[in-house]
Amino acid sequence: MKTKLLLILTLGTCACGLHAKDYLISTPNTSLLITATPGEKSKFQYYGSRISEQDIQGVYDSGLVFGVESYPVFGLNTPGERAMAVAHPDGNMSLDLVVEQVYQYVSDEAEVTEVCMKDKVYPFVLKQLFKAYKGTDIISTWVEVENTGKKPVTLYRFASAFLPVPRGDNWMTHFHGFWGAEHTMDEEKLTNGQKVISNKDGLANTETDNPSFMLTMDGKPQEEHGNVFGGTLAWTGTYLIKMDVRNTKFNISAGINEETAHYILDAKKKFVTPEFAMTYSTTGKGGVSRAFHRWARAYKLNQGNVPHDILLNSWEGVYFNVNQQGMDDMMKAFSAMGGELFVMDDGWFGNKYPRNNSTSSLGDWEVCKEKLPEGIEGLLKSAKKYNIKFGIWIEPEMANTKSELFEKHPDWIMRIKNRPLSTGRGKTQVVLDLTNPEVQDFVFGVVDNLMTKYPEIAYMKWDDNSSLMDYGSSYLPKDRQSHIYIDYHRGLNNVLKRIRAKYPKLVLQACAGGGGRVNYGMLPYFDEFWTSDDTDALQRIYMQWGVSSFYPAVAMASHVSADKNHQTGRRLPLKFRFDVAMSGRLGMEIQPKDMSEADKAFAKRAITAYKGIRPVVQFGDLYRLVSPYDHKGISSLMYVTPGKERAVFYAYKISHFLNMVIPNVRMAGLDPQKKYRITDLTAVKTDKPCALDGKIISGRMLMNEGVALHTLLASEYSSVALELREVK
Ligand code: DGJ
Repeated sequence: MKTKLLLILTLGTCACGLHAKDYLISTPNTSLLITATPGEKSKFQYYGSRISEQDIQGVYDSGLVFGVESYPVFGLNTPGERAMAVAHPDGNMSLDLVVEQVYQYVSDEAEVTEVCMKDKVYPFVLKQLFKAYKGTDIISTWVEVENTGKKPVTLYRFASAFLPVPRGDNWMTHFHGFWGAEHTMDEEKLTNGQKVISNKDGLANTETDNPSFMLTMDGKPQEEHGNVFGGTLAWTGTYLIKMDVRNTKFNISAGINEETAHYILDAKKKFVTPEFAMTYSTTGKGGVSRAFHRWARAYKLNQGNVPHDILLNSWEGVYFNVNQQGMDDMMKAFSAMGGELFVMDDGWFGNKYPRNNSTSSLGDWEVCKEKLPEGIEGLLKSAKKYNIKFGIWIEPEMANTKSELFEKHPDWIMRIKNRPLSTGRGKTQVVLDLTNPEVQDFVFGVVDNLMTKYPEIAYMKWDDNSSLMDYGSSYLPKDRQSHIYIDYHRGLNNVLKRIRAKYPKLVLQACAGGGGRVNYGMLPYFDEFWTSDDTDALQRIYMQWGVSSFYPAVAMASHVSADKNHQTGRRLPLKFRFDVAMSGRLGMEIQPKDMSEADKAFAKRAITAYKGIRPVVQFGDLYRLVSPYDHKGISSLMYVTPGKERAVFYAYKISHFLNMVIPNVRMAGLDPQKKYRITDLTAVKTDKPCALDGKIISGRMLMNEGVALHTLLASEYSSVALELREVK
């Protein structure tokens, strides 16, 4: 894949003002500097805004260089945190790594720097990689280790990244959550000590904290100002991100959570850690988000630059009560509203044990003849009739104890010998042992069989509603049980790679009981993710704000659901629900039969409007304007096209008091020289759009002074969705 063409930088021969041992790794707006001299420790010197080769001396002279090991290891004169700890076959627990060589080359997607190190005494080599993705401001780093000896080595600690940070008024932004409240943003000043975000779920690692964070260098985080570091671990298993903060120094370490997961590396084998991706913004948190969104669309989402369809998902409309007529009715109604894709959720499979609730059938991926006598063919026929695409729900990593799969393959389940089996959802759900290649074949087969029989299936929602409960595999040998957390995900990756190789265009949604798998370990195989099972538009404003920090709108499934909302019981106007859902990948999760004709007509207009602004929302640059976490009574954000000729602006009233203060909202990201015509996208009465509709205002005015919203957002749960188009 890589084209190793550029140069092997022979130390001491570089021109252009570089120190002989300096390796400058740059993106358009950031730079990372390491030094590496054969026989010595590799050093991390600088990470921040872009510098040129001529600036390097200045970085040294101004005392900005860190001068710390780029990958500190345990054992020799090593008090404090370390990136790696191992035990050699003779029991020695130390490493002493020095640089052998450095390679720099250009691949299809990046400029790569490899710092090759080896132990001075033991047969152990480590390669530290830095990858600067082309056309983005993201640099990722990870390590690959190889046991070049004859006996196994045990890895006890194996961080992907170990990075020094300038100590100052450092604040951390992270994204905590739980089922139904994923991606809730927390911001705090870091004081001396350690701050850890981590997860031990085993399968879905983002329902506690997302493995992403931002760090400021100089005070409280701001949207468009200040220097902010942003980082994310591209791994979907257990992880550990640790901030080690002292008065005089500050290190971040990030990687797989090694607790109860030490790994035995056999002779001649390699171990590769997940990528840790980072950016450095001088334009606040907004700069971090935009850098990650561009990177995600270009490299870390399947088909990240393809527009996403507007879909109706059957779950909240019928739950498990799937049948041919019901699905046909939903497709017909949704198609009439302008919908493009229908997704049949849970409840369609199982014959010996039909899937009528969560207590049975996972694993028996045959269409339930009782519920769907015409089979998937009948559903595809309906979809064709209504000129709509068809998608289907699966949860292929799972079984229920009440299933034919469990009866046939009890050994395929994660369980501990001589102990009772733990069960999850429906008190019968269990997890398949994906460390086992036979099970991997079965899971691949779930998708492959459906796609072979029904190639017209356009979309699959891949769910996971369980944690890794019992830490036991009948496939792994007894001295390798500690590999489960890692080998499960390697198995899952194998399956997903095979699916992608065979079905690159199949749209896959990553779901884990909502937003439990929103991470860059999972997303490269998926086109989008289910943000949360909580579809309450008010709570979604908070969650989607958090999601938007690292993940782009094109991938963020955001659905209009019933009034009253099934999760919170809240009642919200349909316009508000649409205005929120239209700021992500718009969809619906509702029973159309329960909608009034007026609501259907409104939905149709909103869907048409979304089709018009889809490229702006799904591929534009995000500017967050007023945070719901700032308690200003409103929240506002906008998307702007790269050429700044189009934008979409949203504002929501999120608390309501008589005569309350409603701030003017200053827009961002526009061209001050351009003039923009404003259009109300979702007026409830077409002949009564909001007062801004039709107005032509300069970008300068909109950004410097903003728009007044006190009359537009006067009533409870009022909202606006406005399009801005350049007027020549
Ligand atoms: C959990 C998902 O998040 C829901 O959207 C739905 O697909 C259910 N599982 C189905 O069991």
